[in-house]
Amino acid sequence: MTEKSQRTSTSSLPIVQRVPTGIPGLDEMLHGGFLPQTANLIEGAPGCGKTTLGMQFIRYGALHGEPGIILTFEQFPEQYYRDAAAFGWDFRALESAGVLQVIMSSPEVSKADLESFNGKIESLVARIGAKRILVDSLTHFERMSQDPMKLRSLVYGFLNSLKRAGLTVILTRESSILLGDEVAPTSGANFSFLADSYIMLRYVEIESAIQRAIIALKMRGSAHDTHIRQFEINSTGLHVQEPFEGREGIMSGTPQQMTQSFIKAFINR
Ligand SMILES: Nc1ncnc2c1ncn2[C@@H]1O[C@H](COP(=O)(O)OP(=O)(O)OP(=O)(O)O)[C@@H](O)[C@H]1O
Ligand SMILES: [Mg+2]
Repeated sequence: MTEKSQRTSTSSLPIVQRVPTGIPGLDEMLHGGFLPQTANLIEGAPGCGKTTLGMQFIRYGALHGEPGIILTFEQFPEQYYRDAAAFGWDFRALESAGVLQVIMSSPEVSKADLESFNGKIESLVARIGAKRILVDSLTHFERMSQDPMKLRSLVYGFLNSLKRAGLTVILTRESSILLGDEVAPTSGANFSFLADSYIMLRYVEIESAIQRAIIALKMRGSAHDTHIRQFEINSTGLHVQEPFEGREGIMSGTPQQMTQSFIKAFINR
């Protein structure tokens, strides 16, 4: 079906716009991408690919008419230029072209800035016409208060300011789970309630090798693929692949191969 005929056949339905990530396989999982002006939480163990996923989302936007901002609380901008260059992505060139800006700040300063009239972030959004932001990472917000309720309200206010500025947000958050049964976030403040979508990255041990798994645990206001999929990071970035076939207990980190009789019984239903 052509794009035109698709539009004609669905003309009576509201067109739900999507914000594609440009990550092979992930957009299919998300039925086209994130919803505009939403906050999307990417949680996972150290080194599993959260920042890479976020950078890829920002880069795709920058190259497709949706300029982006990377707001970092932990790494110097230099680190992003270097990490991006390892995938062949020239973030300095995108900055020079005015479609990307990497800024380093603290959660306290960024929050106060967003609450002030005509703050730096708001001016930057207007100047480059930003539509996307990567906040790397939310983990740093957790130092702002010991009180989970207060923390939630701080993060809620912060995310709303970003959404109000017209941005679609990716937030990363470190989880201490490497392999194991725990699925829920580990800290007292459960930010997944505040996010419009919640994607978890996991390490999985299969036949004595560590592989990477991705699952969309929630997506407010939209259907999404709930399969647990394998993904890899190679020299061109993140690639989401097929669901894990014939395995059970993926989220436990140490899945078992399902017996053929079990699979047959399941398929024959
Ligand atoms: N050029 C590359 N080719 C293949 N894999 C790479 C390349 N560059 C980085 N990686 C992989 O990507 C991973 C780093 O991912 P990333 O920094 O996005 O993780 P993270 O989840 O943000 O980690 P952290 O919790 O430390 O912030 C590394 O573990 C490495 O295996
Ligand atoms: Mg990171």
